[in-house]
Amino acid sequence: MRTATARAHPNIALVKYWGKADEELILPVAGSMSMTLDAFATTTTVTLDPGAESDVFVLNGSPATGTALARTTRFLDHVRELAGSSARARVDSVNEAPTAAGLASSASGFAALALAASRAFGLELDERALSRLARRGSGSACRSVVDRYAVWHAGTDDATSYAEPIEAPDLRLVIVTVDGAQKAVSSREGMRRTAATSPFYDAWISSTARTLEDMVRACAAGDLEQIGGITESHALRMHAVIASSEPPVRYLAPASVAVFDAAAALRAEGVFAHATADAGPNVCVLTTPGEAERVAAAVSPHGRVRIVGPGPGAHLVDEPVAAAAAEEVAR
Ligand code: DP6
Repeated sequence: MRTATARAHPNIALVKYWGKADEELILPVAGSMSMTLDAFATTTTVTLDPGAESDVFVLNGSPATGTALARTTRFLDHVRELAGSSARARVDSVNEAPTAAGLASSASGFAALALAASRAFGLELDERALSRLARRGSGSACRSVVDRYAVWHAGTDDATSYAEPIEAPDLRLVIVTVDGAQKAVSSREGMRRTAATSPFYDAWISSTARTLEDMVRACAAGDLEQIGGITESHALRMHAVIASSEPPVRYLAPASVAVFDAAAALRAEGVFAHATADAGPNVCVLTTPGEAERVAAAVSPHGRVRIVGPGPGAHLVDEPVAAAAAEEVAR
């Protein structure tokens, strides 16, 4: 029986991806840059089942249906095409992120699935090819293939759109899970709406390309102030272009804004603290290892906090996801 197990972590973008140039291939309108986290892993076992008529996807012990199963099957179709196989597969996945943490599990999920499925189907992909494959499941997943810090080159076609590692200073993110609104509009849908309706979309695309160049230079130079400044202003620019869609979309809740204020107050005291947020109300505050505890204490009135650092890219593991462990998580 052909089987493989892989583990991958979510990533948080410091220069954001928002908008697709190609929906089918998931090519972004601009490049982005992220930190792969050392927490909230997804572990996925893929086992070929040549006798089966359809794929099975078990997430945290429960069989998935609907969109989650359809997206997995579509992804496996792509792997089957690459491998020249028609075998169906069973996918067992355990996600360590608490659902309420609101951390997008699609990045860790598709990065782990790309590695486990490619191996189970007999493909030996290098990091670039694996990143391109993960991108087909979810754009941001191509960055979770990479250790620590990644740049996703926008590219112009399937071959040129991939993530690769870059050097950057050792940083921490204080993740603040704020109470409040559930995500109303998915990233995928929100991106479509912004592209179709925002009068600022062209400016978003051209300015993000420049911002990414500035960020890569700042990382290479170890220029913390630049890295922090770009992180916060680019996140707010993304939320601004999203808010300018019709009908408008607003992901930040009052408590999210309070965390941005807390970061500003910390900066006024000389602490390195710069906030960012994805397509939801939770906020991450970028800081240094030495200041992370102080930042965590300062933002703790606004939600549950967790300090995370740069972590490993997608990698194979020996131990398959045991059905029993998966069921344990589900309970
Ligand atoms: C706000 O990668 O989840 O987190 O490609 O449609 O699957 P799809 O979208 P996804 O979008 C992530 C958007 C973001 C910014 C980022 O991670 O760069």
